Amino acid sequence: MSWRVDAPRRARTLQNDCDVELVTQDPFVASAKRRITEQREPPKRKAALTASCSGWSDRPVSTPAKDPSTATFSSAGGKTNANKQVMEVATGPAFTGRMCAASRWIESQRPDSLFSDPLGFNLAGIKGRQNAMGAWILVPRTRFGDDFLIEKYHSNGCRQLVLLGAGMDARAFRLNLPELEVFEIDQQTTFDVKEPLLAHERLTVKGRHALGVDFNVPGEKETWPEKLISAGFDVNIPTVWLLEGLVYYLPNSDFTLMQQQISTLSAPRSALFHDAVSRSYVDAKVVVAGEPFISGSDDYPRLWQKYGFGKNSRAINFEHIRVNRSTRKLDVSPGTSSEVDPARARGQLIVIFFHAEK
Ligand SMILES: C[S@@+](CC[C@H](N)C(=O)[O-])C[C@H]1O[C@@H](n2cnc3c(N)ncnc32)[C@H](O)[C@@H]1O
Repeated sequence: MSWRVDAPRRARTLQNDCDVELVTQDPFVASAKRRITEQREPPKRKAALTASCSGWSDRPVSTPAKDPSTATFSSAGGKTNANKQVMEVATGPAFTGRMCAASRWIESQRPDSLFSDPLGFNLAGIKGRQNAMGAWILVPRTRFGDDFLIEKYHSNGCRQLVLLGAGMDARAFRLNLPELEVFEIDQQTTFDVKEPLLAHERLTVKGRHALGVDFNVPGEKETWPEKLISAGFDVNIPTVWLLEGLVYYLPNSDFTLMQQQISTLSAPRSALFHDAVSRSYVDAKVVVAGEPFISGSDDYPRLWQKYGFGKNSRAINFEHIRVNRSTRKLDVSPGTSSEVDPARARGQLIVIFFHAEK
């Protein structure tokens, strides 16, 4: 995968953090493909992880006896074009969502997994499973987002989650947050495939709303906040915003617009988490699944401060986040050495985990 242009260096850095197969891209892909071959049959029912976080679901999630990527759907769920029998997403960006689901499903098979996402098998589909995004980013990012959401649910009273670029995210079916309303926003093609796959699954949250929006399309990128409010979003309720795998695909001007919109929609105590890349990543013209990274910054704290998200803000250098297999948690280095600031980031290829509160 070409966005790991510094793969050899990172592989050395992270070798002790995860299993080697999950760190270096080529062995990982080989290993993932081997597993896919070995697991032509869908996985057996597996109890969802019960970890130390109180928000994890302890409910087993069903995996169908047959891979629905090859099945015919007779019924529809959700509020989108779910009665269409759509087996594959129609755009490159949406396909990256399936690649992410594949990595979450692969992680879920491990005895020392950091989360359990059995729906990822079907949500990835056959092609997604053949092109898993990679555990090196998906494992820490997913667990970071899970922990962040659960923490803000309990400590900040956040009772709404908005997933911008939701892809094949299944948190609404795997995190036990009974008062949470989940709003998923992505290109309509994602939901055309996703909704039938979830039609018979039980929510572990209060409600879920799927909204088809393309953030690049004039007329859609300006008006999604109205659509969100029409779907039941309440601007007076603290919200967690998760933008995982999205920011680097947005032109800077669209990202700025999105920041303004998030700011306007966010009650005090709202919180957001997104991954991102440093400016040099964009200059290096990195492309993932045919989709170029077109947005990056060396100073996300300043960019978000302008829009009211200046509280407890932190831009963490991804290399300081360790997947701890023995505790099945993430270890995040404390202190300023893990912070990304313009002086440290200049000329460097850095993956960033940014979070802040309003
Ligand atoms: C790398 S995937 C990440 C999906 C999900 N957040 C996850 O972590 O599994 C990026 C997602 O952003 C969505 N996306 C990218 N550009 C978009 C746009 N212009 N409008 C709406 N969604 C977009 C894609 O469809 C895709 O589902």
